[in-house]
Amino acid sequence: MSPLLPDSTPESDALRERFARVAMRSAPTPQAVFARGEGAYVWDVDGRRFLDFLAGIAVNALGHAHPALVAAVADQAARLIHVSNYVTTPQGVDFAERLVRLTGAGPTGRVYPANSGAEAIEAAVKLARRTGRPRILAFENGFHGRTMGALAVTGKPALREPFEPMLPGVDHLPTDRAALEEAMGDDVAAVLLEPIKGEAGVVPLPDGFLTAARELTRQHGALLIADEIQTGAGRTGDWFAVQHEGVTPDAWVLAKGIGGGVPVGALVTTGAASDLFTLGQHGSTFGGNPLATGAASAVLAEIERADLVGNARRRGVELREAILGLDSPLVTEVRGRGLLLGVGLSAEAAPRVVDEAMRRGLIVNAPNATTIRLAPPLTIGDAEIAEFITLFAESLKAAA
Ligand SMILES: Cc1ncc(COP(=O)(O)O)c(C=O)c1O
Repeated sequence: MSPLLPDSTPESDALRERFARVAMRSAPTPQAVFARGEGAYVWDVDGRRFLDFLAGIAVNALGHAHPALVAAVADQAARLIHVSNYVTTPQGVDFAERLVRLTGAGPTGRVYPANSGAEAIEAAVKLARRTGRPRILAFENGFHGRTMGALAVTGKPALREPFEPMLPGVDHLPTDRAALEEAMGDDVAAVLLEPIKGEAGVVPLPDGFLTAARELTRQHGALLIADEIQTGAGRTGDWFAVQHEGVTPDAWVLAKGIGGGVPVGALVTTGAASDLFTLGQHGSTFGGNPLATGAASAVLAEIERADLVGNARRRGVELREAILGLDSPLVTEVRGRGLLLGVGLSAEAAPRVVDEAMRRGLIVNAPNATTIRLAPPLTIGDAEIAEFITLFAESLKAAA
């Protein structure tokens, strides 16, 4: 395996080779081998420092080793890690109450705790089935996860085809109002959408689309389900990205940032959607366990306490301006909101930019050949932005 990083990297290379021998073939070749992190930085096993502007793909909302999250995990691990879901814990109750409050689900709000994004989507797909209607409308290029239900609603044929036949009844539409209007009918159980399509390259919905989807689902008695797995928990400069258009869906699907790195997900419902599951119709061994929900509550509390939603909004504007200010011939636009940004490139150079950035100690990623995705911790400030801009400018030049 050829070393990706400059200088000799004995420990990293040995571990990458061991990984390549034992990891399932579905895993990509690891770009690096990390040993520890602090704030917006991680260090690899050879001691090199990296500025982390990907945050585990929009996960480490508080950055690495944040004292509030470390203390919550350590205290909870010492007290009670897991009990069955025949019982509950203060952490499980607090987690659910927080999500009901933060989403604005209101007095009818209910929460199903999951362990990942895909699992939370599975719960949403089952919820849609409980309407008794056969069809789910999702969107081309959308991404909802890799388990079979989540894959069926994912709008990328190349990911689905090796695993066909899929769950029946799912249509993938272009993201425009006319297509949605035409596909809508009283046999539609749910419309499932990402407010900003992260894996597609940080592509926001067209202006007004979310509002139109809300109106059409209401007219036809269908559920509007917002996949906020990547956009939620403050990342876009609102607690949840649907708030940007003032839309309240029937259900929010959450994961990634709500746990700050601890695996946790959730399906939150409001109104009639909260009554669709009846006793025993869904569940999970680990879902809602006190280690995960205690960690998530600590993350959500810290986002609130430190106004990291406001920070994401402000830093997002600064980052966008600084990137456009580079006047790089490779950069055509900056999409997205808050700290979920997609830098559009004029050529298929994104993988090269990622490699050049890694060599300089900067982590970003390329969801497609013409986009660099930025999803740094919500805690970043002036120093991290200044360092990012220097490293990113060099990486763009080297990759051009
Ligand atoms: C919008 C969206 N939905 C669902 C998922 C799947 O989440 P997980 O990888 O935790 O299963 C992802 C992951 O990237 C995502 O971005």
